[in-house]
Amino acid sequence: MNKNELSASLAGDISLGEEISVHRLGYGAMRLTGEGIWGPPKDHEGALAVLRRAVELHVDFIDTADSYGPNVSEELIAEALFPYPAELVIATKGGWNRPGPNQWTHDASPAHLRKAVEGSLKRLRLDRIDLYQLHVPDHGVPFEASVGTLAQLREEGKIRLIGLSNVTKEHIERARRIVPIASVQNRYSFADREWDYVVDYCESNGIAFIPWFPLGAGKVAGDVLNQIAQAHRASRTQVALAWLLRRSPMMLPIPGTSSIEHLGQNVAAASLSLTDEDYQTLSSVPELVGSR
Ligand SMILES: NC(=O)c1ccc[n+]([C@@H]2O[C@H](COP(=O)([O-])OP(=O)(O)OC[C@H]3O[C@@H](n4cnc5c(N)ncnc54)[C@H](OP(=O)(O)O)[C@@H]3O)[C@@H](O)[C@H]2O)c1
Repeated sequence: MNKNELSASLAGDISLGEEISVHRLGYGAMRLTGEGIWGPPKDHEGALAVLRRAVELHVDFIDTADSYGPNVSEELIAEALFPYPAELVIATKGGWNRPGPNQWTHDASPAHLRKAVEGSLKRLRLDRIDLYQLHVPDHGVPFEASVGTLAQLREEGKIRLIGLSNVTKEHIERARRIVPIASVQNRYSFADREWDYVVDYCESNGIAFIPWFPLGAGKVAGDVLNQIAQAHRASRTQVALAWLLRRSPMMLPIPGTSSIEHLGQNVAAASLSLTDEDYQTLSSVPELVGSR
């Protein structure tokens, strides 16, 4: 791969809700915060530089959440990039709170989501959020009440498109009876395929699937990844990302990093083509793991 090929645009484009087109390789801004996704980053200027470099590399989709920090990730995005380039889409989330390092608590109640959207608008310095995602269903709140609140906020012009995260197909279908759903964000990689059927459902229904934790884990996955990466003179992360990009045209990976060097490597995955054999080998990793 040469330097001329370093552009997220080489991953092709994807339509969000048939309204917004973005390149199919985004950036996840969770790791820009302090340890445990808590507090400010150790290197404030470095975090701003990563965000600016992402945009220079034509990344036009940045994923964040009010709970990353909390607030820190959204504030850094605004500090680094406001006024935003016209094509930049910032996707944030609410409904999962961060009361302390590595702690999560649910609150997707209508009152909280309203407050959360107002907070994100302010921190991101926006009049309207392009993509607002329910971070996770809250079992203490009727799912329809959470989604209905986001639908109302959309009617009020505070949200353009609505997405879901950490959901089943049943959740997506229930939500779509209330409002169009533009994206679904679940944990997914070549080695971690619990949500294969959700990827297929999203592809059939024109919904973007945004995988988090795209590398997968475990020894078997690591060995297979190493072999293929060596053959392509690529990194493991690049191979894992290339597999995702090939898995579905509705796939929109958002690899996260706090390192400019890793960011460049991840964006370079946009132009990495796997052979059919590589793709099949990686696809069969869950079966290999199961057979050992
Ligand atoms: N919806 C959800 O519930 C949910 C949950 C988790 C994450 N997310 C979103 O998804 C994004 C991605 O999450 P993730 O869990 O996949 O990743 P992540 O948590 O953002 O972190 C990726 C990890 O891989 C490392 N890394 C990244 N690029 C690398 C490279 N080229 N070489 C070596 N190491 C590399 C990073 O370390 P360095 O910083 O050192 O590069 C980091 O430790 C997050 O940023 C967030 O926006 C959503």
